[in-house]
Amino acid sequence: MKKQLFCMIFIVCVLTSVLLITSILWTHGNLVTWNKEWDADSLQKTQINRLPSGKESVNLTDGVYSYYLNITQFLSEFPVLQDYQCSLTLTPHGHFEETLAQPLLILAIKSHLASGARRNALRQTWAREGEVSGYWVKPIFLTAQTAKKGQTEILKIENREFGDILQWDFSESHHNLSLKERCFLEWLHHHLPRVAFIFKGDDDEYVNPYAVVQYIKEHGQSPITLHGFRQPDLAVMRHRKYSVSRTLYPFHKYPQFLSGGGFLYPGCSVKSLYEASQKIPVFPLDDVYFAFLSLASNLTHRHDARFRVLGLAFDACQYQRALVVHGIGPERMMEIYQVIQRTQCT
Ligand SMILES: *[C@@H]1O[C@H](CO)[C@@H](O)[C@H](O)[C@H]1NC(C)=O
Ligand SMILES: *[C@@H]1O[C@H](CO)[C@@H](O)[C@H](O)[C@H]1NC(C)=O
Ligand SMILES: *[C@@H]1O[C@H](CO)[C@@H](O)[C@H](O)[C@H]1NC(C)=O
Ligand SMILES: *[C@@H]1O[C@H](CO)[C@@H](O)[C@H](O)[C@H]1NC(C)=O
Repeated sequence: MKKQLFCMIFIVCVLTSVLLITSILWTHGNLVTWNKEWDADSLQKTQINRLPSGKESVNLTDGVYSYYLNITQFLSEFPVLQDYQCSLTLTPHGHFEETLAQPLLILAIKSHLASGARRNALRQTWAREGEVSGYWVKPIFLTAQTAKKGQTEILKIENREFGDILQWDFSESHHNLSLKERCFLEWLHHHLPRVAFIFKGDDDEYVNPYAVVQYIKEHGQSPITLHGFRQPDLAVMRHRKYSVSRTLYPFHKYPQFLSGGGFLYPGCSVKSLYEASQKIPVFPLDDVYFAFLSLASNLTHRHDARFRVLGLAFDACQYQRALVVHGIGPERMMEIYQVIQRTQCT
């Protein structure tokens, strides 16, 4: 009799727990979905239901000129850039965590989700994980989303095989490239506190990791210096791809900035760049945005013309010495890389 009673109580307890757990899971699941919808929604109608961006107006100066970035204008013209909360959908894996004996050099390559052929060509040529003259080199492709479901599936497979993808849940677009900049700094800050250097490039470039490491050894001592091709004073464009409105940015010039297609910065500068990215308005052109970040972080620039070489006629020995050559498609990349590897130069 006693035993039966005990059994009954036991069964009731088990049933109650199961019900409780199910209902918790169910509510939680719904909460999660609801949160996601609310996020997506708020990205669209940002004026009404905005997440607090935590950004504010700033008046930056380079010693000669002042650049006032008015957050009210940035919020009204580019709300998503200000408010987007970085949310990752794919992350890389490999040997690049604390276990490394060598200093780590990240090759961060902006790549459109749809550009799988380019990524594959780079993986077969210069974008390989491994040791280069005492540094551990790790390529990472920075990607976002498109409406095509198949592309994301392919990217997942790529990441499973190569572990070299960072993907966020915003859409690929020209202005959203600034989000790649901002969210990549956030990721670096939280996940790679000991990274030695980061090279930022594009997926249609020949990059020479040996020359980059050599450059770091020669010029990379300062913890507050960024390296790249310093753009001569560029007029602010009011038409076409790189235009910005006068209400957003009334000035005639930008601060000095490094050409976006290839520049190098020390891991020591990530913290201050990241902190600046949490505060200042997000500019809709990614290289100009980086210039404002570096201005706000008091970082200096070192110019080297080798960071922006366009249309260099192919010569294997020159390419062995080059840091980066722009504008090379995937087929051409595979062709020239073979020749560069084979050629003995004195
Ligand atoms: C920004 O700073 C400059 C120089 O200090 C000053 O002349 C200018 O009025 C400031 N702009 C704003 C909007 O505060
Ligand atoms: C910033 O922009 C808002 C909206 O256009 C304007 O009302 C405000 O005066 C601007 N602030 C400054 C300091 O220029
Ligand atoms: C940037 O990404 C957001 C979030 O996915 C999207 O709503 C927005 O349309 C994108 N911006 C542009 C200019 O495409
Ligand atoms: C940059 O320098 C200015 C002036 O020296 C200083 O007020 C500011 O706090 C510095 N900012 C950072 C991020 O170090």
